[in-house]
Amino acid sequence: MPALLRPPGPKSRGIVGNFPLGDKDPLGTYTQWARSYGDIFHYRFLHRHVYFLNHPDLIKEVLVTRAPSFRKGDAVRMNRRIFGNGLLANEGASWLEQRRLIQPAFHRTRIESYAATMVAYTQRLLTEWRPGEKRDLHSDMMRLTLEIVCRALFDVEIGEEEDRIAAALNTLMQLGTGGRLLLPQFLRRIPTSSNRRYDKATQVLDDVVYGLIRDKQSHPERGSNDLLSALLEARYEDGSAMSNLQLRDEVMTLLLAGHETTAVTLSWIWLLLARHPEVEQKLHSELANVLGSRAPGAQDLPGLIFTDCVVKEAMRLFPPAWALVRTATTDIDLGGYTIPAGSSVVVSQWVMHRDPRFYVEPELFRPERWVEESSKSLPRFAYFPFGGGPRICIGASFAMTEAVLVLATIAQRWQMHLADAPAPRPAPGITLRPAGGVHLRVTPRL
Ligand code: HEM
Repeated sequence: MPALLRPPGPKSRGIVGNFPLGDKDPLGTYTQWARSYGDIFHYRFLHRHVYFLNHPDLIKEVLVTRAPSFRKGDAVRMNRRIFGNGLLANEGASWLEQRRLIQPAFHRTRIESYAATMVAYTQRLLTEWRPGEKRDLHSDMMRLTLEIVCRALFDVEIGEEEDRIAAALNTLMQLGTGGRLLLPQFLRRIPTSSNRRYDKATQVLDDVVYGLIRDKQSHPERGSNDLLSALLEARYEDGSAMSNLQLRDEVMTLLLAGHETTAVTLSWIWLLLARHPEVEQKLHSELANVLGSRAPGAQDLPGLIFTDCVVKEAMRLFPPAWALVRTATTDIDLGGYTIPAGSSVVVSQWVMHRDPRFYVEPELFRPERWVEESSKSLPRFAYFPFGGGPRICIGASFAMTEAVLVLATIAQRWQMHLADAPAPRPAPGITLRPAGGVHLRVTPRL
């Protein structure tokens, strides 16, 4: 049967078309469209045609089977000022070469060696906590995961730079919401106050990253067991070393991709546990059984089954990467329709992870579902917090190890309680941050 021309979708609103990211509740809009129009729907935003895929088999086609017919979406490409040509934005032969160079740092045995850092830094954070106080867990988790990624991958203690980095990252993430990244380059160069703030924040991070690289280059004697040293020593087939610009792009990408997502995951976990004391209780029992009162380590990961389920279930309900975007590089037939070259294709973890066709009571926080028989028959792309195919997250095992160990280390000693604070809304920006933070009261358990 010949492919049809255009799938159904919401009515276009004038010249602009539809811009769901500008709506009050973009996640609700996407979900409602998906449930109304089915596995594939279309809308137009200005000159851009967007095809939204809403079935695991179609998602697999885009991310795996027909991955070569797509490139990364324009938001990532337009964000070159930050990510440059680092692993997240790079394409083709250069991407493959860099991925092969960086992959060994994420080998299972290397990640196990980072486990001690993950636990030690969490314990250090806990020394600041006071019984009964109200804390912003999101801000705690952002600092913690930043410290961990810097120590594990670059072997540096960020120390007094931390506040500057955190503030710059915050600015970038806030300005990265609401579709700003889709603005044409010339509009982003106009010196408006938000463009100036964006450029200043990028400059701060540039200084930090170049500082890390210079420091490493001038102290080769300090040991070379980290990723940055490996990148400095790496040689391409023709014997040349990586340029400082490429190094900067890789370090910046790992710094950004490597901490915000895990921090967001942990922040939602704390909120979910405060809302569900019965789940928290079950978690505490597992920690008591497996660990007693000793600190967790990499060797405990296989035994922390329920802890792992809590992380998985939190990422189902609040996927830190809530949507992935690709651009079709050729005309391509998908789901019975022809998608023209140049169109944007969107797949969304938020929408898919809450689809009642695949999850019983999808809105409920029920970590047990991940050990039940039914989870074994889920299609591969009904759950894809880390993406899939060749561009799958390089840090997936790092992130899972970190999330489970941080969760175990804190929950072993502290309990979460809802405080008198407004419930945070998931804000669909570059990641799915809890807007306004996660303010909870913490009390010691022992
Ligand atoms: C819960 C935590 C994390 C989540 C949910 C997450 C999610 C993702 C997703 C969905 C992608 C694929 C993007 C796409 O296909 O367009 C991705 C790619 C990537 N992630 Fe993660 N990530 C996490 C943690 C990490 C960590 C800890 C690191 C590094 C330390 C990292 C580094 C990267 C890099 C470099 C890429 C690009 C890989 C490539 O294209 O070759 N991520 N991540």
